[in-house]
Amino acid sequence: MVEIQGLRQRYDERWVLDGVDLTIEDGEILVVMGSSGGGKTTLLKCVAGLLPISEGDVLIDGVSVKKEPERAHGKLGLVFQYAALFDSLTVEDNVLFGARRRKPIKPAEGRELVKRLLEEVGLSGIEKLLPAELSGGMRKRVGLARALATEPRLLLYDEPTSGLDPVTAYAIDQLIVQTRQRTGATSLVVSHDLTSVVRVADRIAFLDAGKIVFLGKPTEFTESTRPEVRELVEKARSTRILATGGTPIEL
Ligand SMILES: Nc1ncnc2c1ncn2[C@@H]1O[C@H](COP(=O)(O)OP(=O)(O)OP(=O)(O)O)[C@@H](O)[C@H]1O
Ligand SMILES: [Mg+2]
Repeated sequence: MVEIQGLRQRYDERWVLDGVDLTIEDGEILVVMGSSGGGKTTLLKCVAGLLPISEGDVLIDGVSVKKEPERAHGKLGLVFQYAALFDSLTVEDNVLFGARRRKPIKPAEGRELVKRLLEEVGLSGIEKLLPAELSGGMRKRVGLARALATEPRLLLYDEPTSGLDPVTAYAIDQLIVQTRQRTGATSLVVSHDLTSVVRVADRIAFLDAGKIVFLGKPTEFTESTRPEVRELVEKARSTRILATGGTPIEL
């Protein structure tokens, strides 16, 4: 479904991605982890055709993002880190925004589509609200409904659970998995929340210094001996209370 081939990406003189090769299978949920500032969002933007690719290429369903960014972009839906809703538009108009740019949608048809999508993300009846009236978790769901409106074959999620409480994060994780079951879409997720990652991922890729240094199943990830991966897994597992000198507790 997605083939990332020798992708190198730079901002000015600095190379942020330094030769990324990755294949994402049809219908797979692949999660990219890595340190902050390691280039995860940059990778998503390259796949989404939102950045001119410096070197290498990304193929989506065989369409080159480098040569035909618009066409490749048409195959995917993007769920942004901070939902990126338009403040002055209602939920309904936000959800239909991308779909309307592709083809005209009759008012009744649009209302029906929004109703269905909001039901799918568990938010019925909020069509007329403005983004300012929504919680962070609701915004993320509306962002997903907007991405789904174009029936994409590929969904890209940037930090879908960051900034959410554990209960809402769990609900978003369920939604990611259910969406894959319902639509069969391939998903590329960027996240640093290991609890969430092991719940949703078929495979995990770990990005370090611009390269993929680990690729495998969640169980292989948590057992990896690679120092970068070990450090992350151990920190995530640690339930030592820092304030009292490291007393271990069980959660
Ligand atoms: N538009 C830009 N212009 C210049 N440098 C940029 C730009 N966007 C990102 N960078 C730099 O590229 C590097 C990677 O950024 P990116 O946002 O891809 O990291 P990330 O892995 O998503 O980080 P985080 O986990 O904090 O979201 C950072 O050092 C950042 O400063
Ligand atoms: Mg990022």
